[in-house]
Amino acid sequence: MPALRDDELPLDRAVRVEVGDLQLFLYRTSERIFALDNRCTHMGGPLHRGVVRAHVAQPTVTCPLHGSTFWLADGRVVRGPATRPQSVYEARINEGMIEVCPMQELGGKGGVA
Ligand code: FES
Repeated sequence: MPALRDDELPLDRAVRVEVGDLQLFLYRTSERIFALDNRCTHMGGPLHRGVVRAHVAQPTVTCPLHGSTFWLADGRVVRGPATRPQSVYEARINEGMIEVCPMQELGGKGGVA
């Protein structure tokens, strides 16, 4: 499903996008686009306002409310209090639009852009 125009997602800055009922966290590095549910699984904190560490072996985002930290690539919890992983989405660019779909529909492989 289309989420955002490609030229509206800057490099190295988190953006929140609403797609239907979803609130997505999008983050672009020079290598790929990460797409996660923007609402923290702990208590719904806005991940796009959190701290992103993108230029490390396993990029992470830390929730601004209570500090839960998730891997951007697969949403797993690396530090609580959250206990459930974030939903992650495959992101690709198609005809100038960033499109996302749930990762499990594509067999759980990592996303590229
Ligand atoms: S809402 Fe994100 S850590 Fe609590």
